[in-house]
Amino acid sequence: MFGDQKVSFSGVQPSGNLTIGNYLGALRNFSTYSEEYKTFYCVVDEHAITVRQIPAELRRRTYETLALYMACGLDPEKNTLYVQSMVHEHAELSWILNCFTMFGELSRMTQFKDKSAKHADNINAGLFTYPVLMASDILLYQTDVVPVGIDQKQHVELCRDIAMRFNQVYPDTFTIPEPIVAKQGRKIMSLAEPTKKMSKSDENPNAVVYILDDRDTIIRKFKRAVTDSESEIRYDEAAKPGVSNLLSIYSCFTGKTIEEAEKEFAGKGYGDFKAAVGEVTADALAPVQAEFARRLADKAGLEAQMKKGAEEASYYARRTLSKVQKKLGFVQLH
Ligand code: TRP
Repeated sequence: MFGDQKVSFSGVQPSGNLTIGNYLGALRNFSTYSEEYKTFYCVVDEHAITVRQIPAELRRRTYETLALYMACGLDPEKNTLYVQSMVHEHAELSWILNCFTMFGELSRMTQFKDKSAKHADNINAGLFTYPVLMASDILLYQTDVVPVGIDQKQHVELCRDIAMRFNQVYPDTFTIPEPIVAKQGRKIMSLAEPTKKMSKSDENPNAVVYILDDRDTIIRKFKRAVTDSESEIRYDEAAKPGVSNLLSIYSCFTGKTIEEAEKEFAGKGYGDFKAAVGEVTADALAPVQAEFARRLADKAGLEAQMKKGAEEASYYARRTLSKVQKKLGFVQLH
């Protein structure tokens, strides 16, 4: 809470392409929060460097991610949209919270275990303390709710533990945040191996549909989606994971229930079904893609937004960081 206003905070990494799973599970819902909350959406470039980045690409993706936020309906008048590295308090609070986070807690993080297996040649300390920087992002804004995908829920829970530990020593410092995980999009699975979650870093390009894939690519990927050797279009996750995943995607993009979708496709073949899922996905993403292109073309507009967003965010970040420094006993000069 800041004053009597509840706060919502979320972040997206400017690394790699976002998938329809990210869209349905997180981005699409972001704009609904600004009615009820004071909302902050951050492009977390500092998180991105836990794995090696090519500077020109990181820069380009930072612009792109901001453009994508806007294309997903985030109005900069109603939401604070900004870039993490432009607000130095994130990194500063992160150091402090490192001293309130246990080695054992960080070792148990699923994402750390996965990423260190994947980047075995670069298991750096930043990869390990990534969740502490994320906790700083959240706690700097006295955040009440954190809309995230299911894979980030564990990090938000760790953030709560860190905040409670800090508050125990220094009462009334941080608001304790709650994760909000959208039901839809939680279980968007790979098109190639439908028992595995769709992941932006999948090596098989046919397994993943990206938000920015063009229409033909989307339709082609759905046509190649793995199903089963039956011919019935029925939701049954255990016996028919491929068909069930396609039914969920169809339902998410059309707003129809799974039962309605099953009825619609009763008696139809898999070929028609897959084509229909591709069509509704491409239709739903078309306006987002058009707005993205328009925003991205206006580099000066994006930079003006970065400046305005960082100024807005800094105001709140500064207040929390000063409070923390004072509580810790750091000398304050006035
Ligand atoms: N770690 C998140 C992810 O990879 C991104 C993120 C960074 C974030 N800081 C955050 C999400 C704070 C929510 C709140 O998706």
